[in-house]
Amino acid sequence: MDPEGLSGLNAPLLAWFAGARRPLAFREDRSPYRVLVAEFMLQQTRSNVVESYYRRFVRRFPDVVALAEASPEEVLAHWQGLGYYARARRLHEAARRIVAQHAGMVPRDPQALRALPGVGPYVAAAVGAFAFERDEAALDANVRRVLARVANVLAIDERVAAALVPPGRAREWNEALMDLGATICTARRPRCPTCPLTDVCRANRAGTQELVPARVARAVRPVVLRCLVAVRDEELRWGLVRRPPRGLLAGLWEFPSADGADPAAALATHDVWAEGLTELPPFRHTFTHLVWDVRPFLARGGGPLRWVRPAELPTVPLTGPTVRVVRHVAGAAPGLSK
Ligand code: ADE
Repeated sequence: MDPEGLSGLNAPLLAWFAGARRPLAFREDRSPYRVLVAEFMLQQTRSNVVESYYRRFVRRFPDVVALAEASPEEVLAHWQGLGYYARARRLHEAARRIVAQHAGMVPRDPQALRALPGVGPYVAAAVGAFAFERDEAALDANVRRVLARVANVLAIDERVAAALVPPGRAREWNEALMDLGATICTARRPRCPTCPLTDVCRANRAGTQELVPARVARAVRPVVLRCLVAVRDEELRWGLVRRPPRGLLAGLWEFPSADGADPAAALATHDVWAEGLTELPPFRHTFTHLVWDVRPFLARGGGPLRWVRPAELPTVPLTGPTVRVVRHVAGAAPGLSK
């Protein structure tokens, strides 16, 4: 079936891909568990960032059982830095359900896959295509953009996309569209003169490649001032508090912090005493829906915190701002701003 007469893209796409495939770490082993881990990571994070996290994660949790049996703390520690920590919690919960309900095997059945926590249409299709070699279109932002341009439409219809998958070649086809979208058919300034699809691309013919697909306007993010006090005790251990189990950065550890400009509020919220407060350079930390303008301080202090020796810090799942301050104080980073 070729509903829109678009399947002419497949031959030049796959021919190009044969010479241009990116050798990404998570493409080496297409077993269902590894694909599941990679696709959870890839949902909001670029492939080149994911690679090192993926390697470390599957080294520590080589199969579903290893992940299911791990503590939430350790799973979070291996996710720390990737952001969007709800993904790690859902992946962990999915592994537990796979062990409890599917004898430790990632389910092949699309409905059973979709029933797992954190598995939406994209992850289910990606696991279907990459692990089970089903003829499914894994519609991430790159694939959607390339197809929308080839069709010259504001948004690609999911059924049209699914009908385009060449039978038996879903792996290469999806990877090819992902690679083309990441390297040539980029969101801004697509490199049309070097694109293998120029002859079949309707947006290129119409000159609309920068207009399609329609951009989704991003909501303006509120900026919140956030005070953070990095406290150390007399043994130079760091004092950490745990964030609540739900909401922003749930369950991660951080230095005593509070909204507003006043470090005293950050200390009072956690019953911490501190002396010799020194202000450090401010920096921004961006979330999907919010920005923190962080005002960090360093101090000597004490109180009901978790006191962690610097050598043990890598085993604790920390928030991004806390990691940045630790690195700054340790001299590992020249400044706090990115
Ligand atoms: N290969 C497999 N899944 C991928 C993804 N989500 N992004 C880029 N390349 C991939």
